[in-house]
Amino acid sequence: MTRLIIDTDPGIDDTYALALACVSPDVDLVGVTTVFGNVGLANTTRNALRVLALCGREDVPVAAGADRPLVHPHGHRARQVHGEDGLSGMSDTLPRRTTGLAGTDAVSLMVRLLDESPEPVTIVAIGPLTNVALLLAAHPAVRSKIERLVIMGGGLDGGNVTAAAEFNIWSDPEAARRVLAEESVPTTLVTLDLTVRCAVDSTWLDRLAASGPLGDTLVKLSATYRSHYRLSLGYDGVVIHDAVAVAEAIRPGLLRTTGMPVEVDCGQGPARGMTIADRREHHTRDSPRRIDIALDANLDEVRAFLLSRLAG
Ligand code: BDR
Ligand code: CA
Repeated sequence: MTRLIIDTDPGIDDTYALALACVSPDVDLVGVTTVFGNVGLANTTRNALRVLALCGREDVPVAAGADRPLVHPHGHRARQVHGEDGLSGMSDTLPRRTTGLAGTDAVSLMVRLLDESPEPVTIVAIGPLTNVALLLAAHPAVRSKIERLVIMGGGLDGGNVTAAAEFNIWSDPEAARRVLAEESVPTTLVTLDLTVRCAVDSTWLDRLAASGPLGDTLVKLSATYRSHYRLSLGYDGVVIHDAVAVAEAIRPGLLRTTGMPVEVDCGQGPARGMTIADRREHHTRDSPRRIDIALDANLDEVRAFLLSRLAG
């Protein structure tokens, strides 16, 4: 059984990721925390509650976290990819959760859940890293209770929000640098380079839609995302970045990783938010901070794993 906390900015691929954790019998989803990102914090939080309601998970505590980056505020969200409300304009169609927010903030909830857990917990971060940076900076003692961080973010061969940077890292580069370059918690980074290769096509989506009410709703919620990816992929399909990260958290080793030091560009130039992995093995073998970067996988196995879980 893998104990998970998911820090998220739903977001359509975040919704697949949350659903994957909710329906997996080998996952104990101990909490969900929200962060600004694809849309503003009020929407990401509302969406997280509703997606958990959709999955019948009244029991999972939810707390809201950062509404902006640590240092340099900006108004860039991803509404053109995920819709104005973050869920293709369909958030209101989802069931409301009876259980509201935990009466605390995201970082305090993570600290409580980690303290209370008899075993270390995996934190899966699938939005900007603001909450995770604050957690590690303010509560260093919790490191020993974190099994590992699994982060969806970055791109070694270019970005999606700019030519250099991936959205989650670019949204708060200072937070990302703190987590990726300065901390010591074992960390797996699932970058764009691999998530794009795990794209699912219309056959996969049709199978999911036909599998039952949850699959059908997930596919319906993907409308705006699907239009975006039809253009960027050049065929009818979507990239469910965040679900690939949760899949690795649930089944360690599903993705093949290589350890490398990572830096994050925190300048104000065109490379802001770029993740720079040092691939010079002979230089970096003894580096104190190496991130396990997911560079490869059996792509069909990843797609089959995602479908088998989400389709029940
Ligand atoms: C990441 O950015 C967001 O738009 C997605 O939810 C994912 O976490 C991909 O770059
Ligand atoms: Ca996300």
